[in-house]
Amino acid sequence: MASSSLILLSLTILVTSSLLLIPTVTAQSAPAPGPSGPINITAILEKSSQYNFFIRLLNQTQAGDQINNQLNNSHEGMTVFAPTDNAFNNLPSGALNNLTEQQHVQLVQYHICPKYYSLDSLLTVSNPVRTQATGQDGGVFGLYFTGQANQLNVSTGIVDVPIYNALRKDFPLAVYQVDRVLLPKEFYEAKAPAASPPSGRSGAAADSGDARAPATGNPAGNGSGKMNVGLGFISGIWLFCMGLLI
Ligand SMILES: *[C@@H]1O[C@H](CO)[C@@H](O)[C@H](O)[C@H]1NC(C)=O
Ligand SMILES: *[C@@H]1O[C@H](CO)[C@@H](O)[C@H](O)[C@H]1NC(C)=O
Ligand SMILES: *[C@@H]1O[C@H](CO)[C@@H](O)[C@H](O)[C@H]1NC(C)=O
Ligand SMILES: *[C@@H]1O[C@H](CO)[C@@H](O)[C@H](O)[C@H]1NC(C)=O
Ligand SMILES: *[C@@H]1O[C@H](CO)[C@@H](O)[C@H](O)[C@H]1NC(C)=O
Ligand SMILES: *[C@@H]1O[C@H](CO)[C@@H](O)[C@H](O)[C@H]1NC(C)=O
Repeated sequence: MASSSLILLSLTILVTSSLLLIPTVTAQSAPAPGPSGPINITAILEKSSQYNFFIRLLNQTQAGDQINNQLNNSHEGMTVFAPTDNAFNNLPSGALNNLTEQQHVQLVQYHICPKYYSLDSLLTVSNPVRTQATGQDGGVFGLYFTGQANQLNVSTGIVDVPIYNALRKDFPLAVYQVDRVLLPKEFYEAKAPAASPPSGRSGAAADSGDARAPATGNPAGNGSGKMNVGLGFISGIWLFCMGLLI
């Protein structure tokens, strides 16, 4: 008697658990269309701990979701230039605080190209290279690439920085580390005469061999100043998000 009620009990458990299992299994198989699932830019950046600022920006401006969706729907692929947390900390004070909400979105979009570029192809690409950022007049913000002795630089006309590390390099998504935030010259054109695009004549041919050299510098110095910039920027983003909610 005891055994039959045990059997009954275990049968009940079996049926209930299989009933519970069915929806779980179907729910899990649904969002995994490809063999390896969709590409997730956040997950790629999270493998290293030095992109927290950029991850937050991608999330808050929803550019991250946009990348993931666009990758799924385009045959061109995409390229992302990911500034490190250090890059944000080293921005001159006021550089971000003064930006409008729209400019914050433009800034993120400026780090994203709607096409896949290998490092080799960037060495010979024709400038300017279009980004996802556009001005009010619909004009596309461009990036400039200069290659010299196998060293590749990306320039905005204001910022010029080497590219030496790929977080991901296979089609359809390339992700490259940049040690400075790529500030579009369009942000400053109204205030000051724009710096002309890079000429490629640098004269500094000495560092052709070791492409890793410029990674660790801390030229801006002064930690308290940096903290102010970071906090100002974060509060700016927060205000921006509140604006979105309203
Ligand atoms: C992408 O990855 C992040 C972090 O791993 C995760 O929080 C997020 O839900 C993922 N997004 C999608 C669409 O899978
Ligand atoms: C992304 O933003 C949402 C709210 O906008 C927040 O709940 C979530 O924690 C954020 N995720 C990350 C990884 O920052
Ligand atoms: C990818 O695109 C296909 C068709 O274009 C769509 O059915 C699928 O839901 C998309 N997947 C994601 C994760 O966006
Ligand atoms: C930011 O704005 C303030 C006040 O408008 C101005 O004095 C300052 O020069 C600006 N800084 C930058 C970097 O544009
Ligand atoms: C790349 O930029 C650095 C400054 O960040 C500069 O010293 C170097 O000459 C540039 N190289 C090229 C090839 O433009
Ligand atoms: C750092 O900046 C603060 C004010 O922003 C200043 O009082 C201090 O002297 C600076 N320290 C150095 C080492 O430059």
